[in-house]
Amino acid sequence: MELDELDLETITPRQVRQYLKDKYVIVASNRGPVEFRRAPDGSIKAYRGAGGVVTAMSTALTATDAVWISTARTREDARIAHETSHQRLGMPPERPQYWVKYITPESTEYQQYYNVISNSLLWPLQHYLFDVTRKPTVDETVHEAWVNGYRKVNRLFADEIVKEIHSSDKKPLVFLQDYHLFLCAHYIRRREPDVLIHHFTHSPWVQSDYLRLLPQAMRRDLLQGMLANDVLGFHTYHYANNFLHCCREGEAVRASVDFKRRVVRHGERETYVRHYPISIDHEALERITKRQEVAEYRARFLALAQDRKLLVRVDRVEPSKNILRGLQAFEHFLRRHPEWHNRVIFANVLYPSRLELAEYRDLKRQVEELSHAINREYGSLEWDPVYLDIEDNYPRSVAALLEFDVLLVNPVIDGMNLVSKEGAVLNTRDGVIILSVAAGAYQELRNAVIPVNPLDVAETANAIHRALTLSERKRKAMAKAARETVQANTSFKWFLRQMRALRLVERQREERRREKEPFPPLPRYESFD
Ligand code: F6P
Repeated sequence: MELDELDLETITPRQVRQYLKDKYVIVASNRGPVEFRRAPDGSIKAYRGAGGVVTAMSTALTATDAVWISTARTREDARIAHETSHQRLGMPPERPQYWVKYITPESTEYQQYYNVISNSLLWPLQHYLFDVTRKPTVDETVHEAWVNGYRKVNRLFADEIVKEIHSSDKKPLVFLQDYHLFLCAHYIRRREPDVLIHHFTHSPWVQSDYLRLLPQAMRRDLLQGMLANDVLGFHTYHYANNFLHCCREGEAVRASVDFKRRVVRHGERETYVRHYPISIDHEALERITKRQEVAEYRARFLALAQDRKLLVRVDRVEPSKNILRGLQAFEHFLRRHPEWHNRVIFANVLYPSRLELAEYRDLKRQVEELSHAINREYGSLEWDPVYLDIEDNYPRSVAALLEFDVLLVNPVIDGMNLVSKEGAVLNTRDGVIILSVAAGAYQELRNAVIPVNPLDVAETANAIHRALTLSERKRKAMAKAARETVQANTSFKWFLRQMRALRLVERQREERRREKEPFPPLPRYESFD
C-alpha cells in the first residue's frame, strides 16, 4: 500500500512501519532528544532535550528505527558518543525505537554557528526582533562566524548524513530541522543529487523586505541552501507564502516561482513549499502525567494556590516570549482590580535559555526584578502575587499545565507555540487560554481562546480579568474546543505529511524520467528593481 493512499485519520503505526521497511529515516537538528549532564553527586544523568523540535520529533519517530543526528552540547554527550558502540545510542535505551548520534564540532566553530549566527542573527531575524537602529551590527566577526562556524557546522552535519546514507541499503529519507541547518541540504546535494530531503522551519519565515536586512551573500547562501531541499515545510500558509515571495524577488538567487503549485524552480531543481502545523503527541503527554514527579509538583501547585485562582505561563526565558509584558499586564490587572488581591497567583514557570548571551541574562534579571517588585508592591504576609521558578524541569511544567485556571501565552511572535497546545490537552480545570494573535497556533485555536495583541498590556490585563470571570459554561465550551482542535492533529500526522510530500516528489521524478520530459528553460532573471 502506498503512503498517499492511506487515510491520515485512520493510519496505524503498523502500516507506517510497513511503509518504512525499506526506508532509512535520517533526522538532523541542532538539539537532540537527550542531553547528558553530570549531577552534583558525580553521576551522569540523561535529560530530555528542551524545546518544540524535541517535543514533536521524539514521538513522531517512535518505532521508525530512524537515526537522529544532533550536536553534542555537553562534555558528557561527546564522551558518551565516543564510548558507545557505532557511536549511536538507542532511545529509549531499554527498548530502542530510534537511534541518536552526535556530531562534535570544535568549541569555537560551535560558538560561531550557535551563538553568533543562529541565536544572534537568524533567530532575531526570523522573529522580527532586530532593533534596527542599534542591533545587530554585521561586522567582520559575524562574516567570519558565517563562513567558519555556520557553514562549517552545516557541512559537518551533511558529512554525517552522507555517511549514514552510505551505511544502509535502504532508501534514505532525510529530514532537516530548523534555522540552524538552512545550508545543510546544499552540502548533501553536492554529493547526493537524488536523495530525498525535507527541511522544516520551526520558526516563522519573514517577509521579503525584512529578509533583505541580511547581507546579500548570506541571503544567497540561505536561499540556495533551502532550495537544495525537495520539500520545505512551514507551520502556516502565511510563512510559506513569505518564503515564496523571498524567492520571487530574485535578487539573491535565480529562481522562478509558481504560486499556484507552490513550487520554486532553481537551476534544474524544483522545491515544493508546503505548510503543516506541528503538534504534540497527546497520548504520550497523558502518560507523562502519571509520573510520580508530576504528581508531586501538582500537589505543590495546589498547596501554593490554596483556594486562589492559578494564572500560569510556561516558557523559555526568551525575548520573543514577551515575559516582561506578561508581568506588566498582571500588574496592570492588580492595579485595576483590587477585588482580586489575594485571590489569584501568577505562576511563571520558566526555563533558563541561552545564558551565554548577555541579552538573555539581562532578560532573566529583569524578569526576576519585576516579579519581586510586583510582590513588594501588592503582596502581603500570606500572599505573593507572582510565583517565579526558572529551572530546566519538564515534570514541573506538565504539572502547571494540568492545574491552570488561566494560561497566558503572549509571544511577540512565535512560529507555532506548543505550550498552548500542551495546555489545551493537559488541563483538568476547564482553564482558559489567552493567546497572542502573533503565535502560529492562533491560526488553529482562534475559536477556542481569548486573543490578545502581544504589545498591548492594557488589553492583556483585560483578557486576564475576562478569563478569570468567564461563566463556567463558557469556560467548558472553550476548553473543549481547544482540546478537540489539538487532538485532531498529532505530531505523528505532522511527520506523516512530510513523508507523504517526499513520496509525491519521488513519484513525479519517476514520471518525468519515464516520459523523458525535459525541464523548461528558466524564465528571465527576475530582479525587483
Ligand atoms: O522554536 C524552534 C526551536 O527549535 C525550539 O524547538 C527551541 O525551543 C528553540 O527553537 C531553540 O532553542 P535552543 O537554542 O535552546 O535549542
